[in-house]
Amino acid sequence: MNIAIIGAGYVGLTTAAVLAEVGHTVCCVDQDVHKIEQLNNGNVPIYEPGLSELMEKNKSSLTFTTSLIEGATFPVIIICVGTPSLPDGNTDLRFLQSVIDQLAPHIHSHKTIITKSTVPPGTNEWIYETLIEKGVPPHLFHVVSNPEFLREGSAISDMLHADKIVVGLRRDDDQSLEVMKTMYAGISAPYIVTSLTGAEMIKYASNAFLAMKISFINEIARICDAFSVNVNDVAKGIGYDPRIGPHFLQAGLGYGGSCFPKDVRSLEQTARSKNIEPLLLQATQRVNESQIDVYLRKLHETVHDLPRQTIAVLGIAFKPNTDDTRESPAERFIRQLSNIGCTIRAYDPKATLSSDMPNVIQTSTVMEALNEADVLVIATDWPEFQQLDWEKVKQRMNGILVLDARNCLNRKKLEEAGLHYIGVGVG
Ligand code: UDX
Repeated sequence: MNIAIIGAGYVGLTTAAVLAEVGHTVCCVDQDVHKIEQLNNGNVPIYEPGLSELMEKNKSSLTFTTSLIEGATFPVIIICVGTPSLPDGNTDLRFLQSVIDQLAPHIHSHKTIITKSTVPPGTNEWIYETLIEKGVPPHLFHVVSNPEFLREGSAISDMLHADKIVVGLRRDDDQSLEVMKTMYAGISAPYIVTSLTGAEMIKYASNAFLAMKISFINEIARICDAFSVNVNDVAKGIGYDPRIGPHFLQAGLGYGGSCFPKDVRSLEQTARSKNIEPLLLQATQRVNESQIDVYLRKLHETVHDLPRQTIAVLGIAFKPNTDDTRESPAERFIRQLSNIGCTIRAYDPKATLSSDMPNVIQTSTVMEALNEADVLVIATDWPEFQQLDWEKVKQRMNGILVLDARNCLNRKKLEEAGLHYIGVGVG
């Protein structure tokens, strides 16, 4: 198949690489001239494990252009542009609208237009209506809603081994499912076929549920703490029940990234637009937003004169195996510590602090971050932090306190090295 992908971000590039891998010819379109230049020079502008290797392997099937008109010549067009949050929590559909405006005059042969960007319920119907209003004859296109469920850091494997393929179609569309099945022929997963809006809802409900699971375990962690119970035991205990499941029950600083915070906000606004008070969605966000305060308070209680201390923070990215700092709880924690006057020495294997903050420096090694540190905070659960030599860590630091804000360290090993351990919801 000949496929154009519009938007060369995480979703677009991963989709492009995987579709090339399963045998298609893919053209990536992005308005960012610098990004396309990089891609044409063989450089992948984001860090995603395995992505550059897969793109290199399939380079003969991949092209990159800034020309949307060139993209419009392809029979299958996948829209992967960003849909960020507006200040009020609604979704900013500016990029998507601009793509539809630019595509419309160039549809002269049949197109299957597939939306992968996360969009509020009703958006794909809007795409259909807009193209009709712009004079595109209905027999020349089909609109398909095909949300993605890939996670940064494991995007390629998530797409190649998808647990499902969600396909939203218009009622009268009896040919796009075959297009989708041909496109995903190399990927074996059950199909969920529903309406355009049904597919949009599946994506939002999925992200909101996972975010809710995280906030749930974080709330349970607060209660566990008060009773000196280990929340990890509780998560394990409840996770064996197949109705609950073991995933997304890792207590920590809360969820971040480019999807959960924005999608929960957006679904809240969607509900409100229909006069529905989304109580669980509100609670999910309130727990998430206040999770950092709980651990800041804990530091205040444990560390004498916290604002005058030097804090080493390991982790800046919103989660391991990514350089992404969007809505990163680690970065929010650093900002809060900086606001109260602490001196911060932050380190991350891939991510860079997204803005300058008073008294915050980023170091290039873990050991540099630990120099003179009174307190150590693990803010992102990178595997390499679990492997640290705790004897050496103790020698480097001024103090002995370690806040494991992701519950990812071996407490016993730290304590054997003479460090004082605080976790999340572990008493
Ligand atoms: C998420 C969804 O998982 C994915 O299906 C969707 O397509 C995009 O959004 P992603 O944002 O890449 O993917 O990250 P994910 O691994 O889901 O983690 C999101 C956040 O939740 C991270 O900040 C992570 O640290 C946090 N998290 C996750 C927890 O705090 N506890 C958990 O148990 C799991």
